[in-house]
Amino acid sequence: MKKTSTDVLPAEGGLGDEPLLAVDNLHVEFRTRAGIVRAVNGVSYTVSPGETLAVLGESGSGKSVTAQAIMGILDVPPAVVPKGEIRFKGTDLLKLSEEARTQVRGQRIAMIFQDALSSLNPVFTVGWQISEMFRVHRGMSKADALKKAVELMDRVRIPAARQRVHDYPHQFSGGMRQRIMIAMSIALDPEVLIADEPTTALDVTVQAQIMELLAELQRESQMGMILITHDLGVVADVADKIAVMYAGRIVEHAPVHDIYQAPAHPYTKGLLESIPRVDQKGQDLYAIKGLPPNLLDLPTGCSFHPRCPLRQDDCVTDVPPLHQISGTRGSACHYWREVLDGERQ
Ligand SMILES: Nc1ncnc2c1ncn2[C@@H]1O[C@H](COP(=O)(O)OP(=O)(O)O)[C@@H](O)[C@H]1O
Ligand SMILES: [Mg+2]
Repeated sequence: MKKTSTDVLPAEGGLGDEPLLAVDNLHVEFRTRAGIVRAVNGVSYTVSPGETLAVLGESGSGKSVTAQAIMGILDVPPAVVPKGEIRFKGTDLLKLSEEARTQVRGQRIAMIFQDALSSLNPVFTVGWQISEMFRVHRGMSKADALKKAVELMDRVRIPAARQRVHDYPHQFSGGMRQRIMIAMSIALDPEVLIADEPTTALDVTVQAQIMELLAELQRESQMGMILITHDLGVVADVADKIAVMYAGRIVEHAPVHDIYQAPAHPYTKGLLESIPRVDQKGQDLYAIKGLPPNLLDLPTGCSFHPRCPLRQDDCVTDVPPLHQISGTRGSACHYWREVLDGERQ
């Protein structure tokens, strides 16, 4: 029998000991005229079925580039992946042929992008755009595919789906457009869903509704979810665990409750203190002083040291390893014990 590239695709069935998705020591660089931009510097995380991992960090910390590497949509060149693995059910996606990768992208691992307005085509009805998923990937007839589109619009709670399937993107509000993007992302029942800042462009009430929708869809389908955000405030209710990124590294990872109770990295502590609180109206928000580092020329030692209130001499010279604090928790701070103890006092 002729061996096709689909033979190496991850099995549809069980997982054995492997997590659903495992990013392992991933490095991504951009070779630019100005030099090498080290956007991702050894990131590792895992996602299991039904689990939500929140990836948190300021703009430019490498959250989206990591997601683009998982999806296989990095611009190569200038992007290069010099090291690392991205295992989906045990198969390293980085070693798959482009043809095999196409079978995974959008179908087994799907992504919701930040900007729903520019991702939808203004000249086609939303029904046409959603049903395209079924026509192209499932070979359905136009009529059947449109029926599926209505079902999906119901599933993402768009009122009057049967009528609205014939409307154009501009006839929907920002929140409804994001629901349409979510409908398209889950159309083919992906096993992993990556949501890259899915609520950034929306107002606070709508943000909460979209988060609730994502959580519901996940409960129904047991997808693994990666929720990328720069806002620690939105993840408390939906995430199981958090990975905090800084300058292309994970500086802390932990179950969500542990992080909220007592962060083990000064950067996480700063992010927590930056969340607006209703009981502190009018007070100045603590903001982490200084700017994220230049990825063309990373600081020596700990990348966070120029901004760190707890900096010691060795922080300037020695890169902190990711200290394992417990089976489920790690911190890349030489002084994680002091940070934790300070919080508990
Ligand atoms: N095509 C590119 N060429 C050069 N640098 C890039 C490119 N894409 C992303 N970067 C850089 O990689 C870094 C990480 O970006 P990104 O992952 O988008 O950050 P974020 O955490 O905000 O999602 C940024 O400094 C960005 O400028
Ligand atoms: Mg981003």
